Amino acid sequence: MSNIEQTLSIVKPDAVERNLQDQIKNEFKINGFKILKEKKIHISKDEAEKFYKVHESKPFYNDLCAYLSSGPIVVMCLQKDNAVSENRKLMGATNPKDAEEGTLRKKYGISIDKNSVHGSDSVENAKIELDFFFKD
Ligand code: CMP
Repeated sequence: MSNIEQTLSIVKPDAVERNLQDQIKNEFKINGFKILKEKKIHISKDEAEKFYKVHESKPFYNDLCAYLSSGPIVVMCLQKDNAVSENRKLMGATNPKDAEEGTLRKKYGISIDKNSVHGSDSVENAKIELDFFFKD
């Protein structure tokens, strides 16, 4: 039985800075994701703080928000069967050092902060995160 889901993907500033967005978009396409929506934006630190509110209590919260707002990002709505878990599999572990061969973070990530891509971690959060960027 099919279980079509949508999830949010962000190409983070480190990857946009290296002009990797088309390569990363292609990785999604060849792995069966449809890119339903996308836009390139540069968010403020305030907006980054709202987006990453779940991490508010973490020691890395301030750096994380400063980083996400440090340059342009590409946000996308991806669709596929089991898109949330499929995207997490394709991204690999949060820390590129721990990510498996072939995953996006292994291929493109530089460090745990500059790990090139973000993806929603649950169906529930995917809805919240997609609304955050695409609710007009
Ligand atoms: P992301 O999937 O965007 O979600 C939160 C981000 O915080 C994560 O990717 C990492 O880039 C960043 N981060 C920085 N330090 C840590 C850490 N110690 N544990 C988890 N995430 C971290």
